Amino acid sequence: MGSLGFSSPLVVAVLCLVLNAALLVNGGKTSSFIRKVEKAIDLPLDADVFQVPPGYNAPQQVHITQGDLVGKAVIVSWVTVDEPGTNTVVYWSENSKQKEQAEGKIYTYKYYNYTSGYIHHCTIRHLEFNTKYYYVVGIGHTERQFWFVTPPEVGPDVPYSFGLIGDLGQSYDSNVTLTHYERNPRKGQTLLFVGDLSYADIYPCHDNNRWDTWGRFVERSAAYQPWIWTAGNHEIDFYPEIGETVPFKPYSHRYHVPYRASGSTAPFWYSIKRASAYIIVLSSYSAYGKYTPQYKWLEEELPKVNRSETPWLIVLMHAPWYNSYNYHYMEGETMRVMYEPWFVKYKVDVVFAGHVHAYERSVSIPSMILCSKLIFSFFKSPCIVMIALALLECASMQFSVFFCFSK
Ligand SMILES: [Fe+2]
Repeated sequence: MGSLGFSSPLVVAVLCLVLNAALLVNGGKTSSFIRKVEKAIDLPLDADVFQVPPGYNAPQQVHITQGDLVGKAVIVSWVTVDEPGTNTVVYWSENSKQKEQAEGKIYTYKYYNYTSGYIHHCTIRHLEFNTKYYYVVGIGHTERQFWFVTPPEVGPDVPYSFGLIGDLGQSYDSNVTLTHYERNPRKGQTLLFVGDLSYADIYPCHDNNRWDTWGRFVERSAAYQPWIWTAGNHEIDFYPEIGETVPFKPYSHRYHVPYRASGSTAPFWYSIKRASAYIIVLSSYSAYGKYTPQYKWLEEELPKVNRSETPWLIVLMHAPWYNSYNYHYMEGETMRVMYEPWFVKYKVDVVFAGHVHAYERSVSIPSMILCSKLIFSFFKSPCIVMIALALLECASMQFSVFFCFSK
């Protein structure tokens, strides 16, 4: 065995690894945005973004999400306050003009001294891919018209653009964040929402009127493109001191998701396919230990992902597994311990999380190990080809990332 001189390939490789590690832990600046020091200020209740639409029993808080596994169905949701009104959604494609209709269901709930309006959820099925549809709600009273575009058929070479927002709330900064997303020239086609919606629970007795104001605030985007929902800690609304002992009561009444389509037994963990992506939504605040429903579902779900059909495997959750910030430090650690080996085994591409109001991103730890292996094997393996392949794969989809630093 020869001596390890400074010029030996091994020493060079170690130096490369150190330099590579330095690059990985310091990604540099990617935006000129600087978070302000001041605490976010709530929008007042009479802010224009909270305006109730005019007209008797006018539908408000209109929002849509994907309604099945592959994107051929849409769940349309809205609230009426004067009376239940009809559950009908009238819709037609841009091409056919032939009007169809679907019937939904009405839900109400009480929370302490609050009684909800009439919450409508209606699933429109058998839509064509890649088609613009118009839809009308409020039939019989005040009608309001919106539109959406269905995604392309699920497949490996289907470009698609997702936006990403978490921890939105309803402050002046929340409005800046949503406007920032809407005005981005990349035009996100679907929004991945990584939890903490209205922050109604920070108001006295979890004032559920703030769920209504938030619904009206996001309508301008959520009525026109699907928002894919993830539950955060501000959705739990567990408050036994005022008699509220059912977790997620307001959230689960207001934001329906297609969880049954992926074999889930609860709306807090589920999956969808959209374009070239397989998106798995997990619940940081539902049981996830061994033998729990979420654990068993995920264990059976991951092997179902067909990477030749959906090369992108994306996971959404609220509490991140990696976080160097002092707030919420290591709150995701126990879930990481439970599930990370599966994420490595099934080669999850990217995990999006919220909760920590300080933006961070990293390559995955397994990727860092992979990089190390690549550098060590540089002198005897075609690693450059492997990197080039990885870059080609990355180029097939865009992500527009927006985070709200409002709280
Ligand atoms: Fe949170």
